[in-house]
Amino acid sequence: MKAPEILAEAAGLLDDTIALRRRIHRHPEIGLTLPRTQRTVLEALAGLGLDVRTGERATSVVARLRGERPGPTILLRADMDALPLREDTGLPFASEVDGAMHACGHDTHVAMLVGAARLLAQRRADLAGSVLFMFQPGEEGYHGARVMLEEGLLAGAEPPTGAFALHVGHRSPAGVIATRPGPTMASGDTFQITVRGRGGHASSPHDCLDPIPVACEIVQAFQTLVARRVNVFDPAVVTVAKIEAGTTRNVIPESASLLGTVRTLSEQARERVLAGVRRVAEGIAATHEAEASIELIRGYPVTVNDADFASFVLDTARDLVGPERVEEMRTPIMGSEDFAYVLQRVPGTIAFLGTRPDSGPVYPNHSNRMLVNESALATGIAMHAAVALRFLAPRAGGAR
Ligand code: NI
Repeated sequence: MKAPEILAEAAGLLDDTIALRRRIHRHPEIGLTLPRTQRTVLEALAGLGLDVRTGERATSVVARLRGERPGPTILLRADMDALPLREDTGLPFASEVDGAMHACGHDTHVAMLVGAARLLAQRRADLAGSVLFMFQPGEEGYHGARVMLEEGLLAGAEPPTGAFALHVGHRSPAGVIATRPGPTMASGDTFQITVRGRGGHASSPHDCLDPIPVACEIVQAFQTLVARRVNVFDPAVVTVAKIEAGTTRNVIPESASLLGTVRTLSEQARERVLAGVRRVAEGIAATHEAEASIELIRGYPVTVNDADFASFVLDTARDLVGPERVEEMRTPIMGSEDFAYVLQRVPGTIAFLGTRPDSGPVYPNHSNRMLVNESALATGIAMHAAVALRFLAPRAGGAR
């Protein structure tokens, strides 16, 4: 792999990539159905000689690029969906859709992966095997990757034996690539608890059954659950993010509701904590003769990077951009990511690309003011391409 050549080719694609990213940024779409974004991707891939399929239950795009020689398949992923918030960046290409914004950088992911497809399409001779480009809707809580798996993403005669995704973010300076082996992003489940008592006059709690102190006790007990029943080396987060009860000062309400999230870094911890949330809520409510009903809504599983694939990615990144621009992350991130479903089936890695602006304030992903340092997109294109080129290198036998 000749890093300077790949970087130069990626740099040559930067202007078009930025233009594509801005086009997508202007017209964000949310969820599993992103017809406009899908059309943009299909147009951008036209003429590259790829075998293209589209999804049925979601507006996904799967495209295969065949190298000149046979060999394994590597999957490269970009998610395509935006978030439900109003953009306040003031950019000339800001969202034209009220209440929708590409605030997680998925517009850049699409544009970088299209750039990588263009780069790799010019290098078929260097590919022993094929590249499967996965453009997925519905990453922000809609399980888009799972829908694509159910629709046969990995089916067929040439399933991928490696998978790679890149996510932009503010944590690192522009162009820095970061990842780690093992659990890298958390599971993200939701709980909704309703504590039921009996309403009445606020001056006479003994004639009622006040659900509010019961709900408060449950919130406190969750922290004891985490601190005393969870292995400190297999950590968990339980956050109650919303409490709702009552109407006015002299009425005891009938019910109180709690909404929150559970984050863990292993499936064992996940099951243990979810069971604990249920037990604690029910137990405390019962102690006070109230009742708790609990709804657990399963989100994404833990995102686990394959250890060998992660070192392959770190090595590839060091060769590409130099070791000083590569970071082996010391800890996971407690956000969740539906690439987890792909990594449950295919050894692979998600890595992070720094897109922090060179100056000015730094707004995190999901902020209404989130900005991307577009100069870093060339590094992203090159990184996708380098992972594929190395994984499918003819003399290395395709293996890492
Ligand atoms: Ni995201």
